[in-house]
Amino acid sequence: MARTIETEPLATAPAATVTGLMAEISAVGTDALRGGYTRPVYSTAELDLRAWFTEQAEKRGLAVETDRNGAIWAWWDIPGGDRSNSLVTGSHLDSVPGGGPFDGPLGVASALVAVDILKARMATPPRPLAVVVFPEEEGSRFGVACLGSRLLTGAIDPDKARNLRDPDGSTFADVARANGLDPRHVGKDEQLLGRIGAFVELHVEQGRGLIDLDQPVAIASSILGHGRWRLSVHGQGNHAGTTLMADRYDPMVSASRMVVAVRDIARKQPHARATVGRLQPVPGGTNVIASRVDFWLDVRHPNDAVTAALVESIHLQARVIAAEEGCRVELREESLSPTVHFDPGLQKDLQLALPDAPVLDTGAGHDAGVLAAHVPTAMVFVRNPSGVSHSPEEHVLDEDAETGAQTLADALHGLMA
Ligand code: GLV
Ligand code: MN
Ligand code: MN
Ligand code: MN
Repeated sequence: MARTIETEPLATAPAATVTGLMAEISAVGTDALRGGYTRPVYSTAELDLRAWFTEQAEKRGLAVETDRNGAIWAWWDIPGGDRSNSLVTGSHLDSVPGGGPFDGPLGVASALVAVDILKARMATPPRPLAVVVFPEEEGSRFGVACLGSRLLTGAIDPDKARNLRDPDGSTFADVARANGLDPRHVGKDEQLLGRIGAFVELHVEQGRGLIDLDQPVAIASSILGHGRWRLSVHGQGNHAGTTLMADRYDPMVSASRMVVAVRDIARKQPHARATVGRLQPVPGGTNVIASRVDFWLDVRHPNDAVTAALVESIHLQARVIAAEEGCRVELREESLSPTVHFDPGLQKDLQLALPDAPVLDTGAGHDAGVLAAHVPTAMVFVRNPSGVSHSPEEHVLDEDAETGAQTLADALHGLMA
């Protein structure tokens, strides 16, 4: 008699780990030139990660939808499908140029693993849960950080958003249309916003707080107010070889002096951070005295009035420098995010679920900061042993990554009761 060998099917698929999901994410969007990852919104890399996320979410039985502003929502519905008072977690998959592996993706991977952990604990959730991926969190392509959450909450005028341009001159409206959105419909989504009962974003810590405290995770208290301004310095474009030094109106020289002034002004103000990380001479030739230089200023401080005063001082000093160099300077605000204090009630709930976690503030901006003006919002930070972010050196230990997801699952579980 023939013997049949019966193989038992695995009862459940092997559990995903944050480290495993991060390895899949980290195969996408590497930047050989800058190091690290470059994934501007709607680039091939970011689109590939969106497709990856959709597949991961569908594999978990979540219902995936893209909202009118390009954020992806993956829903674990309650029986009957009512989505009011939902718990939402997630982050972003876009990056700064040459960014680290974890800024954004860690929150997405941890959210998926937290869903797995919760699904092992319960067949259906007592409260609907969604994992969200916000587009253009970094503002690396269109200049305004957290564009997806700003549009969702009405924090940016849709007309302003439609007319934002990327470095190639394409408008957000054109890029949105090319990616399946109707640019006429971008903007505040009252219905979707009204469904969010609470938002919890897990993120790699972008400073040294947890290293110094020797703890793997923290709960966020606040985000420093911050903004972005564009300065344009106008001079006279001319020939590098035929223009005597005395005859020049060189906006690169003016801009360079202004960059030093930014540093010096910020140094005199406790807790201030001011950065020029991007500078663009026009037309940009080795043997050409530029006719114009644009540069972008990022200023942050816990007191919004101080931020405004710092920008005013910088503008004043820039005008003095421009006049001395025979140039002219214009300053334009591109975005402003007031200081955010996260919801004290939700913070307490998280402290109950995570009694050992310290409470930390941060100087980095997040979609959670935008949502905080509309819904109870909280953040969980995971230790970054390099203390460095927006750089390939950003790091998270494998065991801390798993602790983070476990922590997120416990926090969400606590909020489901
Ligand atoms: C984004 O990460 C920011 O803080 O600028
Ligand atoms: Mn970032
Ligand atoms: Mn981020
Ligand atoms: Mn950020």
